[in-house]
Amino acid sequence: MEIIIQASAQAATEIASRTIAHVLRRKPHAVLGLATGSTPVQLYKLLIDMNLDWRQVSSFNLDEYVGLPKAHPQSYHSFMWANLFKHINIDPQNVHIPDGNAPDMASHCLAYEQKIRQAGGIDLQVLGIGTDGHIGFNEPSSSLGSRTRIKTLTRQTRQDNARFFGNEDQVPSHVITMGIGTIMDARQHVLLAFGPHKARAVAQTVEGPITAMVPASILQMHPDTRVYLDPEAAEQLQRSDYYRWVFEHKPLWQRV
Ligand code: GLP
Repeated sequence: MEIIIQASAQAATEIASRTIAHVLRRKPHAVLGLATGSTPVQLYKLLIDMNLDWRQVSSFNLDEYVGLPKAHPQSYHSFMWANLFKHINIDPQNVHIPDGNAPDMASHCLAYEQKIRQAGGIDLQVLGIGTDGHIGFNEPSSSLGSRTRIKTLTRQTRQDNARFFGNEDQVPSHVITMGIGTIMDARQHVLLAFGPHKARAVAQTVEGPITAMVPASILQMHPDTRVYLDPEAAEQLQRSDYYRWVFEHKPLWQRV
């Protein structure tokens, strides 16, 4: 893992946006895995401002609420169109978001996995992290080998996401999410975490044992994961001085 601690969320997001832009310029038909939540909003703004060519890019979103109409303002479908897709020249046919209203969920999940494979696999996956260490909506105790499927949200996650819905009872209890195995198949990961409320999950992910109780900790097994942090999200890391030193002394050839 490469741990990139910057002076602010904005500075960390700028570096992450350059990594993504680099992938899109090198491979015009890249396959991106995309995330929702407050964390990547600024990342998407920066990518929009870069005027990249998205015509051949394909995207696969991590997750979606079950039972929420697509047009609901808090559906991840609405989120992605409002915050990214409507501002770029991506072909809508290349946009993939799990359907939380699919009549046959089991076959929809299987088909989602097949579509990722048919597209050639995910080149770069953008990730946020839940306060309980979830990635996508893979809550603690999710199988580390899981594939796209329905999950039940924890009380903690519903409380965390209540801010988008008004109150906790409005937050759907079920979701469809790429599995941890699906996420681990991506060639590269860009994980963003900002703010003191993420500090514990970040420390457990980076420096704790690999465990299904902290789903993001499996990223320790991935050969290309970069974790972008602000000082508050990094504050419980034991080795933050080392990570800062490594980043500041990167040889030129490593700085992509
Ligand atoms: C959400 C999403 C995750 C996201 C996480 C953190 O519920 N399913 O993909 O990374 O929780 O969200 P936020 O960025 O709003 O803190």
